[in-house]
Amino acid sequence: MLIDSYNRKIDYLRISVTERCNFRCQYCMPEKPFSWVPRENLLTFEELFKFVKVAIDEGVRKIRITGGEPLLREDIDRFINMIFRYRPNIDLAMTTNGYLLSKVAQRIREAGLKRINISLDSLKREVAWKIAQKDVLDEVVQGIEKSIEVGLKVKINSVPLKGVNDGEIIDILHYGMERDIPVRFIEYMENSFANGSIEGLSSREILEIIGKKYNFIDEGIEPGSPSHYYRLENGYRFGIIEPHRDDFCTHCNRIRLTAEGYLIPCLYFDEAMSIKDAIRNGDIEKATQILKEVIRNKPEKNRWNAGENSNRAFYETGG
Ligand code: 5AD
Ligand code: SF4
Repeated sequence: MLIDSYNRKIDYLRISVTERCNFRCQYCMPEKPFSWVPRENLLTFEELFKFVKVAIDEGVRKIRITGGEPLLREDIDRFINMIFRYRPNIDLAMTTNGYLLSKVAQRIREAGLKRINISLDSLKREVAWKIAQKDVLDEVVQGIEKSIEVGLKVKINSVPLKGVNDGEIIDILHYGMERDIPVRFIEYMENSFANGSIEGLSSREILEIIGKKYNFIDEGIEPGSPSHYYRLENGYRFGIIEPHRDDFCTHCNRIRLTAEGYLIPCLYFDEAMSIKDAIRNGDIEKATQILKEVIRNKPEKNRWNAGENSNRAFYETGG
């Protein structure tokens, strides 16, 4: 079992398989980075899988494939299937912007993916376009519908921004309600890569908007998840991810691996250690040591609640 210095059990690994993305979301990657990581620096699926085995053998029980946009990585179903065959009962999930999803949903489901989180910031074509800086709405919605059809467990992620999509909180909630899939609203996490002029809504502001239309009860933080859940009188549950809360990190159970092989203990901070050489040299013992050291050095909490910006790019670490 992997336990950090604050007695948190770490059993969740997020793997960013590429930093590349086909969207330019204002809050994440408003402009194309000066250069992408050269392909030869990326770990292959075989190399990533060697680390996955180490992590599973040490106690990881949940793995999420992220990006950038993970569906840009060719044959991602092959990687999914490698993990699935090694330990079929791993909670195997993906986070995607949904643009390329409708064509591959069936294939990734059959490869062993169980759950998928899809970003949906607006149901208005022009607004979705403005946020992602690309005309994305139709493809994303098709991706969501197809995922439900093939039996993936779907969740919607939505980042409310002042003056942009904050008038659509109820519409997005209804979209989830009609399909019986949870929506999680995410507080915008300030970072130095985002468009400097955007401003997110706080959890309190989001609840105020929903509270004008619905009564709900607070169900608290879901164990093993960053989300605070609320239940409407009709039984529908939605979540809010509140990284600005002082106690947000109390139950953090995760570490992150980048496509280049950096193991990152916290989304907020710059700290990282590379497992690339250990994995390329076949030195499993060394990779295990690095994993344990990164977990030992996991910080107690982020600094968003102190009103600060993160210098980490979300597209590198997978949000
Ligand atoms: N603040 C909040 N959420 C973000 N995401 C990406 N960047 C940010 C940010 N700066 C979200 C995406 C996606 C998830 C992985 O993280 O919308 O749903
Ligand atoms: Fe791409 Fe996701 Fe970042 Fe948007 S939030 S630019 S879809 S990685």
